[in-house]
Amino acid sequence: MKKIWEGRFEKGLDETADKFNASSSFDKILLKYDLLAGMAHTKALAKAKVITPNEEGKITAALKKLLKNEKAIDFTKYEDVHSAVEGELVKLIGETGKKIHTGRSRNDLVVTDTRMYLKDEIAEMKKIMKALLATLTNLAEKNTDKYMPGYTHLQHAQIISRGHWFMAYFQMFRRDLELLSFVGERANVMPLGSGALAGANYAIDRHLVAKELQFAEPSQNSLDAVADRDFVIDFLYFAAITATHVSRLSEEIIIFNSSEYSFIEIDDAFSTGSSIMPQKKNPDIAELARGKTGEFYGALMAGLTMLKGLPLAYNKDLQEDKVILFEAVKKIKEIITVFEKFMRHIKFRQEKINESLADDFMYAVDVADYLSKKGMPFRESHKLTGQIVLYCLQNREGMSKLPIEKYKQFSEIFEKDIYNIFKPEKSAHAKCTFGSASPESVKGQIKTARAFLKK
Ligand code: ARG
Repeated sequence: MKKIWEGRFEKGLDETADKFNASSSFDKILLKYDLLAGMAHTKALAKAKVITPNEEGKITAALKKLLKNEKAIDFTKYEDVHSAVEGELVKLIGETGKKIHTGRSRNDLVVTDTRMYLKDEIAEMKKIMKALLATLTNLAEKNTDKYMPGYTHLQHAQIISRGHWFMAYFQMFRRDLELLSFVGERANVMPLGSGALAGANYAIDRHLVAKELQFAEPSQNSLDAVADRDFVIDFLYFAAITATHVSRLSEEIIIFNSSEYSFIEIDDAFSTGSSIMPQKKNPDIAELARGKTGEFYGALMAGLTMLKGLPLAYNKDLQEDKVILFEAVKKIKEIITVFEKFMRHIKFRQEKINESLADDFMYAVDVADYLSKKGMPFRESHKLTGQIVLYCLQNREGMSKLPIEKYKQFSEIFEKDIYNIFKPEKSAHAKCTFGSASPESVKGQIKTARAFLKK
């Protein structure tokens, strides 16, 4: 591979070391950004009178040409994307091309390219996240007046609107999207002009370069600018927490899809079969999403470990940021894209859910509250309802089937209206706090969600 730094060396790199050192195989995806950064830098060089307007025109035209013929470059010949751009530029325009690297270093260039790449990817990722959020909102709307058991410790707890379940996941992914915006803001700082570490000996207008490349501002400190990869870690954390949320959702889907629960049915288009058991239809998409989560944690750990203990400023360790970042970007986009479609096609099996909703004990809090609303202190009503539950368990009876005489033996407060509470919609509607599991609350949540998505 040709080197742009060969001057002080007496011999070329050992073949294995050359391969080990090179990054072109993966950083070639930065080509577009490297070319754009090159154009902005060229403009600044002309403004600083380092190159003539004629040279500026020549370099810019050649960079534009390369942008159009991206595929024509043979990256295997170059150490990295920056060497490739410079090499191809010189091939096109000769000596003038050799002026492009005046006042810049690959150290400030690579991190500029990476930030530009990430900003674009974040913009796309935001759309994907919004699509998922919109789908969850639509599903919540369809399920507002449908009910399901809510769980704690994976045991029947209280009845909730099914829309509430969807909106719980909406909240997780909404937080992820907000986090992503913040990550985007932190990536929006322009390092070019920081040179190798100390800045440049030319009057390069860094504010102009920042504006040309659509960054919010130039970086404040050259030493930090070339060594900083916090924005990479930020994204890796975003990917890790988002994957965690997908994994939790996956786990619930896998449970709800199990033979024992059978609450939901996964569309054939999103299930796979078994090579030996003809009856099988497996939730592989959810299992894969759950299984891939660890890779994001690994990437985050790798990123943090890469930075830990690195002296200022640039060290070659930082080349590894791209290996993990590119992979994480690709994977998290893929997971959210497939999950959005996957969720859209999930169907509920109402008969099976009804069987679970027939578990009277999910009304136990409602029974205790019935007593408390009629004056009994809650600790008393909790204890008394517990005794009713115990009686039902010992006598294999349901709470809704106990005769009124029996209720009255427990407390004279009970009247016939106690039987009104044993309905899923009654129980869910009874929740009247802001953000609760009632259909009214879910409607409010959906309204807020739609306003958020419009922003
Ligand atoms: N390929 C390198 C990277 O990705 C570019 C910067 C090289 N700088 C250097 N001083 N060797 O980090």
